Amino acid sequence: MKKSAAKPVMSPRTQAIHGEFLSKSWEFSHHLIPPMTASTTFRLESLGRGAEGFNTFGAPADGAKPIWIYDRLEEPTTKMLEDQLALLEKGECAVAFGSGMGAIASTLMSLVKHGEKVVAHKTLYGCTYSLLTNWFPRFNIQTTLLDVNDFSKLEQELADPATRVVYFESVSNPILEIADLEKIAKLVATANKKRKKDKQIYTVVDNTFATPWALRPRQWGIDFVIQSLTKNISGFGTEMGGAVIASQEFESILRVARKDFGAIIHPYSAWHILVYGISTQAIRFEQQQSSAQKISQFLEKNPKVQSVTYPGLKSHPQYKLAKKYLKSPEGDFAPGTMISFQLKGDMKKCQKFVDDIAKNSYSITLAVSLGLTKTLIEVPGFMTHSGIPDDKRDECGIDPRAIRLSIGLENANDIIADLTAALKKI
Ligand SMILES: Cc1ncc(COP(=O)(O)O)c(C=O)c1O
Repeated sequence: MKKSAAKPVMSPRTQAIHGEFLSKSWEFSHHLIPPMTASTTFRLESLGRGAEGFNTFGAPADGAKPIWIYDRLEEPTTKMLEDQLALLEKGECAVAFGSGMGAIASTLMSLVKHGEKVVAHKTLYGCTYSLLTNWFPRFNIQTTLLDVNDFSKLEQELADPATRVVYFESVSNPILEIADLEKIAKLVATANKKRKKDKQIYTVVDNTFATPWALRPRQWGIDFVIQSLTKNISGFGTEMGGAVIASQEFESILRVARKDFGAIIHPYSAWHILVYGISTQAIRFEQQQSSAQKISQFLEKNPKVQSVTYPGLKSHPQYKLAKKYLKSPEGDFAPGTMISFQLKGDMKKCQKFVDDIAKNSYSITLAVSLGLTKTLIEVPGFMTHSGIPDDKRDECGIDPRAIRLSIGLENANDIIADLTAALKKI
């Protein structure tokens, strides 16, 4: 069998389908589709091999044949998913987890210690906010929240010796701000020149809203890229998963963290994400994105709508940054599949509208999550971001009346018809 490695000349669209073509993790070269493993433990041919597997876990020698030991350490289907994610996110390695939160918590715990500090963007997914503000302080890890695009404040924080991580979402959930990744990475690199190797600051970016189809943060100098695989990458609303993509030097610590924290992905989910999710992501994303553009323009023109935020609209406050960073691997503008909007009027009006959608809409479902084949609507202030205390919502930039839409694969005109019907009733 001659075919072996991913061909760098092939486009990411093609690589998303064929991956590495033949993987070291895949012993069944006659299969067209990668096998799904279903064994929690693996037969070892000798004690020596078993000992070697434990000794080299997380950092096997280059070109070494993998030694599979136990599911929680590493297993073939997950490894194939990881190799595919690393390829698409332009990383040297990827480590997959049982959820996006598993990936975020394990990555941060690998990088920050007692007495050290995370500097994070003020608007974050609700559970990430809770992790940083409720849980980390128990281990004496503090978080300073700021606007990461406010460079003078960021520089001040980078000068604090306790700062070890700058954390943000490339496109923020739920208000779709665009982080200036290149500038932030450069400021961190400058601060790092004055720091010792064991005190370096790392950039960690949650790229879930953008997905690798719209943004590859590592190309802009970001160290760690997080994905909630539960969302657009898996795409069908059937699997949970998360991943971190990084350079080789961090593979070992990330794998050991996953082993010890236990936040593994089930091979069944890894298989579905690899076989169904990744290979169809580009085409789903593009279709959803083209509908999102149309729907955001419709909302912007509706007299009952106060404001619409969508990176594909010229009215987006950071349209220039959106044009710079949000691009498909093929170079096309890729403003994404998520819309945030507010109606004119108070919270009661917002509630009436959303309840009407929940009850009467065919194409739009009131539900959390995003990036799925079905269009979803939610009110972050009371749902996904309810972990943020009421008195902190303003600081975090979350208006309680803001409505989030994740556009699915339905006909855009049907989604518009359902929105129109609900808007008429308020
Ligand atoms: C931006 C973002 N990051 C991370 C997560 C967490 O992902 P998971 O639900 O897979 O743990 C979510 C979940 O909604 C999210 O929206």
